[in-house]
Amino acid sequence: MKIGLFSDTHYCNCETIGGWRNPKLAYERTRDAMEKFQKEGVDLCFSLGDMTDHIEGDTKEDIKSYFEKMLSLIKSYSIPFYSVPGNHDYLMLTREEIENELGLKAPPYTIEKEEYTFIILDANYRSDYRCFDEAGVLWTDSNLPPYQVEYLKKQLKKATKPVIVLVHENLDPTVDESHIIKNAEEIRKIIKDSNKVKMVIQGHYHCGKNSVIDEIPYLTLSAMCESKENPYKIIEI
Ligand SMILES: [Fe+2]
Repeated sequence: MKIGLFSDTHYCNCETIGGWRNPKLAYERTRDAMEKFQKEGVDLCFSLGDMTDHIEGDTKEDIKSYFEKMLSLIKSYSIPFYSVPGNHDYLMLTREEIENELGLKAPPYTIEKEEYTFIILDANYRSDYRCFDEAGVLWTDSNLPPYQVEYLKKQLKKATKPVIVLVHENLDPTVDESHIIKNAEEIRKIIKDSNKVKMVIQGHYHCGKNSVIDEIPYLTLSAMCESKENPYKIIEI
């Protein structure tokens, strides 16, 4: 089974943000990635979050149009696609708006595909467990709220196939500390103790990282808007 992955496109209507993020380049790279996914016969693909960004003066409608442009490109390839929300995606839109108006399912949810189970989580919550859409985005304060911790435990308990866990922010304790989910240690223990997780996939930390923790690969994708090379990945499991 082949899975196509990319992350942190930060798409919006400008060439560069802050002099180092390149949203339009990321859009072109997404096209190249989707072309390759199609050629390689990828079975499903994921965006690991921060699909959109914004520039000064942007309205809610502008952000929706960025999502729509990205989604129209991605969906033109007819590969089953799932989006993991990132902190930037909540700058102006709510979980409900992203789900109801853009058709991107709000995590947590589980996909069964062939011989694998995929669990998609949303750690865009402050330490008081209010979602970034309501509380305001604070990228250094991401938390998996208790209801999703319970969801993860239950889904792992009932899983009969190997599991892949996907979340935007980082569970890998070896990346820069400000990117790490505050209750990551508790979540890693749940993952380890289940003995069912084959891989953890994340975005958020733009440099990317490959780690093995408790004998489980933790893959952090490099950002499409920043890396020197196009950092999309096709993994075969
Ligand atoms: Fe990002």
